[in-house]
Parts: sequence; structure tokens; C-alpha cells
Amino acid sequence: MKETIERHPHDVLVVGAGGAGLRAAIEAADQGASVGLVCKSLLGKAHTVMAEGGVAAALAHVAPADSWQVHFRDTMVGGKLLNNPRMAEIHAQEAPDRVRELERWGAVFDRTADGRILQRPFGGHSHPRLAHVGDRTGLEMIRTLQDRAVGAGIAVYMECTISHLLTQPDRVTGAFGYWRSTGRPVVFPAKTIVLATGGVGRAYQVSSNSWEYSGDGHALACLAGAELLDMEFVQFHPTGMVWPPGVKGLLVTEAVRGEGGILRNKDGERFMWKYLPEDRRHEYAATDEEATTWVEAQSAARSTDARRPPELSTRDNVSRAIYTEVREGRGTEHGGVFLDISYLPAEHVRRKLPSMYEQFKELADVDITTGPMEVGPTTHYIMGGIRVDADTGATTRQGLFAAGEVAGGMHGANRLGGNSLSDLLVFGQRTGAGAAAAAAAAPELRHIDPIQVREAERDLSAPFDRPGRADPHRLHEELQSTMQSQVGIFRTEADLEEAIRRIGDLRSRWPDIGISGGRPYNPGWDLVFEVRNMLIVSEAIARSALQRRESRGAHSRLDYTEPDPAWARLNSVVRLADDGLEVTTASVPELPDELRPLIETE
Ligand code: FUM
Repeated sequence: MKETIERHPHDVLVVGAGGAGLRAAIEAADQGASVGLVCKSLLGKAHTVMAEGGVAAALAHVAPADSWQVHFRDTMVGGKLLNNPRMAEIHAQEAPDRVRELERWGAVFDRTADGRILQRPFGGHSHPRLAHVGDRTGLEMIRTLQDRAVGAGIAVYMECTISHLLTQPDRVTGAFGYWRSTGRPVVFPAKTIVLATGGVGRAYQVSSNSWEYSGDGHALACLAGAELLDMEFVQFHPTGMVWPPGVKGLLVTEAVRGEGGILRNKDGERFMWKYLPEDRRHEYAATDEEATTWVEAQSAARSTDARRPPELSTRDNVSRAIYTEVREGRGTEHGGVFLDISYLPAEHVRRKLPSMYEQFKELADVDITTGPMEVGPTTHYIMGGIRVDADTGATTRQGLFAAGEVAGGMHGANRLGGNSLSDLLVFGQRTGAGAAAAAAAAPELRHIDPIQVREAERDLSAPFDRPGRADPHRLHEELQSTMQSQVGIFRTEADLEEAIRRIGDLRSRWPDIGISGGRPYNPGWDLVFEVRNMLIVSEAIARSALQRRESRGAHSRLDYTEPDPAWARLNSVVRLADDGLEVTTASVPELPDELRPLIETE
């Protein structure tokens, strides 16, 4: 007799249990929806934790001059004005409330001397704006949201991989996946689905992302007919560990630079002075002395007129600078540069950066209170993502929503540090509300098409029928090497065309992947669908990068080195067509009149 597949129906199904997924699930449950929360890993293990240095919100506790308007402007300028302005507006306006709410739910941020939430500076932010818990902010946020979600009675499905979205012509109807512990299939009928699966870092060799981040939500949305936006904009965080090899890419928080960390090349030169963009030079200290005055003021949580050090340029710029120093032969023995905070009192460094202190001590045998760290760029985040409605998180496919890193539009061409944590709180909440409202308006769960379920089951089983054929690990390594070398910090037409050709070759080999062993906890099998997802996402990145013949934000072309005004108001759009991925453009949404004065001079 044929076994029936386990089913878990919900009004709202949230896929991904990082900060955005948790916040969306909490909100949907608060609105009265029955909510299922699926994560392919263990609850609490999320890239949110890798946003260590703080959550950006214009609370104006350290700098009274800060406001949502300045935060909005900084975000738009950092994103080179390609951001969806409505998203940037909502984000800047609502981030303070979301941070205060988190404190009501139990998070404890570091304090000023008079007991208010302490805020630290980060690159591209005009004021100290990042509420933080030492250098473990993401961890504290996840812990708090997790407690809240469990307390709200949300059904949590851990170690469950969603491999297919189920659809009818007019909408999504549910999700199909399998339990990693047993390999048994499972179906989640749902009125609405929120994708909150995070990023795509595993498509690259050097990344701060852990194994979970294989572009699952981006690919599932694309396969279900939703659109992706601005996929060429991949953020290379300037500072990942470069040594020892086993931890290459592990994040070294921007908080090190926020607290005064200085970047030097192997000759001892403070090289960031050379790389400040001419049009923004006025925002940075003019001399070492002015930078030092600024650091002293920050250490005392005092507002100052001194301008910020050159190390606090935006991430796109600092990554390019480090990459260039290394490429031109001024890098360290292990292919990085030095990041030094050891000139500050040891007790202060340990208190402000406890995780970094332990990380370097344990993993690299380096005491950061007495000597410099070695760091280099690491793939950290993708600004591109699923195209969503700013107010509700609805995608272009009915019933499908997206929030957090998997959603596009908010950060434009480059994200400011700390804006990801505020993004996931603000848009997690809004998307949870949007998905719950849409679910409430839907009379009942739609019929799940048994043919789609059978096909999904067949897809899952197929690799076991081809043992010894193409190896998923091999395909993954080839993809990572292609993305790292040809779709990295600097790009050219020839490299991108070659990358697209290689990705096409890998896609043609994908159906031939064979697996041996059993279903329970089989990492090779898990990788099969992750590779499918990474191939889709990688092709979207490479094709969008090829299309954008200019340099802007995190997208740097060696053959088109300047921003091109013709591209200034265009987002890239990717959708699935009959013969593969189709890349086009769409106009950046108009800036409303009332916001125009805030960025007029830009
Ligand atoms: O450097 C960091 O702490 C990362 C923060 C972020 O990506 O927002």
C-alpha cells in the first residue's frame, strides 16, 4: 500500500528561521494566523548571528542630531540611490520602534553612562547609530526572537529542507520538502508563504556564510514565477579572517573599525586615505590626529565634530581597497592586510569586542590587544533579492511573500553595516502582517495538486538511481571557483561571459548527479537541491552583472569603471522564461516629493 505523505497545513508558512523569519512568524501569529516555521538547520542557527556589530536605528541616544531622515539619506547614498525609496523610508522610520520592542521582549543592549541604549559608529552612517550587545548583537536578537516565537506557540519544524513550492496557475498553494533526519517527504499546505531564507554566500569559496546559505529562497521564488531584483550587487565584507585556512572568510566585525581599528598594508601604510571617494572626502577626517580625536570621543560615547576615520568608508569601497592593496603586492604573508586595535587599552578592547578577542585567540593564536589581525574581503550578503512590495512584502507571485536578505530593493547597490538587522526586524514584522492579512482574506486552503507532489518526490529520489555519476560536491566546488574568480569584487565582460558559460555547463550536468548511501542525514543528497539553487542564483548574478555596463556600489567593472548616468535609475530584473533566465531592467520607483529634499544634493 502506498504510504501517504505527512502534511502540516497552516495559514502562513514561514520558510527560514533567522531574524526575518522569526519576526515574520511572531507577527503573523499575533494577527491570529496559524503559523508554521520551517528551518533546514536547528532553530537559532542563522546568519543573523553574523551581524555582530549592531542594529542600525536612529534612536539619537549618542548623537542628538540623528533622525530617521538622516538614516534614510545615509541608506540611499550608501545604496547609490538604487534603493526602493519607500523601503528605505519605512526602514528608517520604524527601526527605532523595532529595537525598543526587542528590549521589551528581553534583549539587553549595552548602555550609555546615563542608562540609555549605547550606539556605535559604522561605515557610511553619519552618526553613531548601531545599538549593540558587545560584538554579539545578532546572537542576542536571535535569542530574544526565538524565545518570543516559542512562547507564541508557533509550530517549529527543524531540520526540514523545502525543495519545491507547490502552485496553481494563479498562486502558491504550499511547500514540499523532506526531513533531513529521516529523508521522508513532507507537505505544508498554506494560504500564504513567507520566504526568509537569507543569502547566497555558499556560491562563493570565501564567505562569512555557513552551510545553510545556498540561495534557496531566491531560487524557489524564481522557479515559482516571482521576479528577482538587482542580483549583481553582492556584498564583500571587507574584513574576514584570512588565516588559518580552515577559518578563511569567518567574519571580523566592522565593530572593530567602529571602535577605532586601523587598516594598514604590509609596509605599515594606513592605505584607506588613498581610496576615499573624492565626492565624499569631506565626511572623513583630514589627518591621523583628527581620526584619533574622533576615536577618543567614541570611546567616551561623546558626540564630536571631528570627522570619522577613513576605515569607516562604505563596505564596497573598503573591500575594493583591500583587494587592490593585496593584488598590487602590499598584502600580508597570508594574502590580507592588517587591522589593528591594539593601540587602545586592552581592557577596553576586551569589553567592546569580546567575541573577536576570543575568536582570534582560539583560532589564530593572536592576541588582538597586543597585535594586529590579518583580514581580507569575504562574501557576506546579497543586496539583490526577490522583488517585493515595500509595505507588505508581497512578491510578484500571489500568496508568496519575502523578507530579510532574500528580499531585494531595500539596500540598492550597497548595504550599510547594521542595516540588515534593522531590515529584518522592520520588514519581518511588516511581511508577517502582510502574509497574515492575505491569509485571512483567503477563504480556505487551496487544493494541493497530487501530480506536483509526485513529481517533487520523483525529483528527490532520482539522484539515488544514479550512484557514481556526477558528484554534487564536485559541481559545487567548480561553481564556487567560478564565482570567486570571475564574478567577484572586480568583473569584466570576458570573465562574466566565461562564468555564464561554465554555469551553463554545470546546469547541464546537474540532472546527472548521483548519490549513494541512505536518506537520513546524507549531506551529498542535501547538496543536490542546494546546488540547483546556487546555479540559478549564480546565473542570475552573472547575467545581471554582465547587463550592467557600469560600476556602481558593490558592482565594479574593470571595463566600465565609472557610474553611467543611463544606469542611475535602473534596477535589474531576472525572471524565469521558457528558455532559461531572462534579464531585463525596471525603473527605480520614483522618490516621493516629500523625501526629495533629503537627498537633493546627492
Ligand atoms: O560587521 C558586522 O558586524 C556585520 C554587520 C552587518 O552585516 O550588518
